[in-house]
Amino acid sequence: MTRPASDLDGFRLWPGLLDRAAQEALRDEVFTRMREGPFYIPRMPKSGAPMSVRMTNFGPLGWVTDKEQGYRYQATHPETGRPWAAMPPKVLELWNTLSGYDAPPEACLVNLYESDARMGLHVDSDEDAWDAPVLSISLGDTALFRIGGSLRSDATRSVRLASGDVCMLGGAARRAYHGVDRIMNGTSRLLPKGGRLNLTVRRVTVPQSSPAAPQLPEQASA
Ligand code: SIN
Ligand code: MN
Repeated sequence: MTRPASDLDGFRLWPGLLDRAAQEALRDEVFTRMREGPFYIPRMPKSGAPMSVRMTNFGPLGWVTDKEQGYRYQATHPETGRPWAAMPPKVLELWNTLSGYDAPPEACLVNLYESDARMGLHVDSDEDAWDAPVLSISLGDTALFRIGGSLRSDATRSVRLASGDVCMLGGAARRAYHGVDRIMNGTSRLLPKGGRLNLTVRRVTVPQSSPAAPQLPEQASA
């Protein structure tokens, strides 16, 4: 297996982990699943302002946001009401190989960045399984990704995420502020209309067997 090219407080980057054939195969798996669960426009809690990124999910749970109920995970697509499409096998394989986490992932958020889309600095904090890393797979145009520390005011650094790159936010970096400043249009020909797809793979609930799972009070022995 390829060794990570950089390792900063639990942030790991595997540049070019997916070769062109693997990128094309995963792209096609995403496009096929879009028929089951199309991209929708997520909206910010309270204001209802649209995000510039389009989203869908794969797996038993999906991350969604809307004006009324805000950020959350749910088992169904907000517009079709149907369960999310299954996670592509390649995504599960990458999780099994790279995450070091015993339980399977439950959500694969798929972000579509067209031309001017971006994502503000945030921490992924809607998951109960804080000990699980978040794995991120990039396809299409290169993103200027920004990552800092656990405080919004911490210093940040920029990392270019190109098609086929895989990165992971684990350890201290699991709580790091991160976002996407911009997409470098025209840097890849993988997607027919250009733009970028990003898949983030997450464990949401605490696995029953995990030491982090709430313990039942011990039975008093008679
Ligand atoms: C995210 O933080 O959900 C997406 C990050 C990315 O698009 O690289
Ligand atoms: Mn995130």
